[in-house]
Amino acid sequence: MSVIEKSSTSQNESAVDPAPWWRQAVVYQIYPRSFADASGDGLGDIPGITAKVDYLHTLGIDAVWLSPFYPSELADGGYDVADYRDVDPRLGTLDDFTEMVGELHARGIKVVVDIVPNHTSDQHVWFQEALAAGRGSAARDRFIFREGKDPDGAVAPSDWESMFGGPAWTQVADGQWYLHTFATEQPDLNWAHREVRDDFLETLRFWSDRGVDGFRVDVAHGLTKDLTEPLPSREELKLIPFDGNHPLVDRDDVHEVYAEWRQVFNSYEPPRTAVAEAWVNKSRVPLYASPEGLGQAFNFDLLQADFDAGQFETVVRENLELARASGSSSTWVLSNHDVTRHPTRYGLPHPAREPNGEPSVKHGLEWIISRGTSPELDWVGGERRARAATLFMLGLPGSSYLYQGEELGLHEVADIPDEDRQDPAFFRSAGADLGRDGCRVPLPWTSSASSAFGFGEGVAHLPQPDWFARYSVEAETDDPSSFLTLYRRALVLRRSMQTDEDLEWVPTGNPDVLHFRRPNGWEVVTNFGPEPHQMDRDDVLLTSGEITSRELPGETTAWFGPAESKTP
Ligand code: NOJ
Repeated sequence: MSVIEKSSTSQNESAVDPAPWWRQAVVYQIYPRSFADASGDGLGDIPGITAKVDYLHTLGIDAVWLSPFYPSELADGGYDVADYRDVDPRLGTLDDFTEMVGELHARGIKVVVDIVPNHTSDQHVWFQEALAAGRGSAARDRFIFREGKDPDGAVAPSDWESMFGGPAWTQVADGQWYLHTFATEQPDLNWAHREVRDDFLETLRFWSDRGVDGFRVDVAHGLTKDLTEPLPSREELKLIPFDGNHPLVDRDDVHEVYAEWRQVFNSYEPPRTAVAEAWVNKSRVPLYASPEGLGQAFNFDLLQADFDAGQFETVVRENLELARASGSSSTWVLSNHDVTRHPTRYGLPHPAREPNGEPSVKHGLEWIISRGTSPELDWVGGERRARAATLFMLGLPGSSYLYQGEELGLHEVADIPDEDRQDPAFFRSAGADLGRDGCRVPLPWTSSASSAFGFGEGVAHLPQPDWFARYSVEAETDDPSSFLTLYRRALVLRRSMQTDEDLEWVPTGNPDVLHFRRPNGWEVVTNFGPEPHQMDRDDVLLTSGEITSRELPGETTAWFGPAESKTP
């Protein structure tokens, strides 16, 4: 039998009404500049999203999260925001935004927007004012300006490196230096400044008033800093524990900021939600996810894990525990706009590790640097494992965050010519890191290459490979074995079977096989190994690949429904 589905429950009918909505939501991340281009300028836009609301509805998601769509010079894909309370004119207008929200809401889809508080763009009016106003000015105090550390001021205040490589300080014309944790064009804000705090409260209200349901908080761990001099060196920084007092990262006092944000969120009905992008020690994640703070935090452990039963089980156990500790629900992510797409990751033999043996988010980097030639990509095997991992994830309690194009099974695009690359990680590492452009290539909507595979009339801002034809929405829509069909069926079933936020593990006697049961009897069995596994039932509802009777083939997931959903 191939992918099958036996539920008769309609898409929007939920077995259990999850309240509040976000706790077990499926949130679909849209990278707006690469989703759909209505204007024909080669850049995706807000009207492009509005034109696809029925596609999103049919997919069966609960919410969209929009990566930044604000005015930006695109030094970092829009994460360099020039104006937090407007739409980039290349992407549309505020009215277009309002229309998009209305159309999504009309289909029961919530809207989450990205908020980028750690840094602005160097084009932001505040930074331009700071440059013009000069040293010692109030305008400079909104950012982190320092004198150089030698008598001439020619040496940067510290030897810190930016996250994209290269120095974290840049000198301005009058000789002062400013801090940028990321690209030069992304000056860090000074969160000790009341005006900065108030301005973001206003931005949260601005979007909440326009119907936005929640916020994804960029670099949530980075806002507050202790820059008491003398500044530690890069080597000294490495020795400072991440215990809430680190000068740059995950400081306890950042939660004073989020407590104020919470007041704003709770002044709306229903309260606005937030999810933290917080790269912090596990034990500190609940601080971000607490109901007094942002309310939910990303867990990136699955996207760093190998396709391996032991690793997946550990990740699930640990994160359900953390979610309990915070009072929040867990989040699960296999792909996003910062990492190699998961069919490609799972098709590469050697998972990347940091020098200390920890999993790395750079999985696939070696393959990308070789322009997709080495190591050899197991294209089909990667997809098989991706389908199995996706069904495993979608069965878990908590919310799942999907990244646009994963529902098509898109692989990473490796062969982007250097002259087309956009990611600052590429420019700042002198090509040692080719960056994240390969997961940001505009989506293929049609099988014909004309109009950029249906993306829009213009030349797509990142080139699409020929193989996109096979992965287009058009090609996959009526194909029962496609990724799109699998995602659609899984999301309908998930909605119909949703239950309390819990699971129990069912022993399998096989270290390669994980089996869990949700409180209402919904069961998920994943065989991570190569050999088939005998199951004790054959009334499967949905599978990630072909199965025969009770035999679950290698690298395959099967779902079994709760007792009531077996009745035709
Ligand atoms: C995290 C975002 O996900 C990434 O895309 C961005 O480059 C950095 N934050 C800086 O804003």
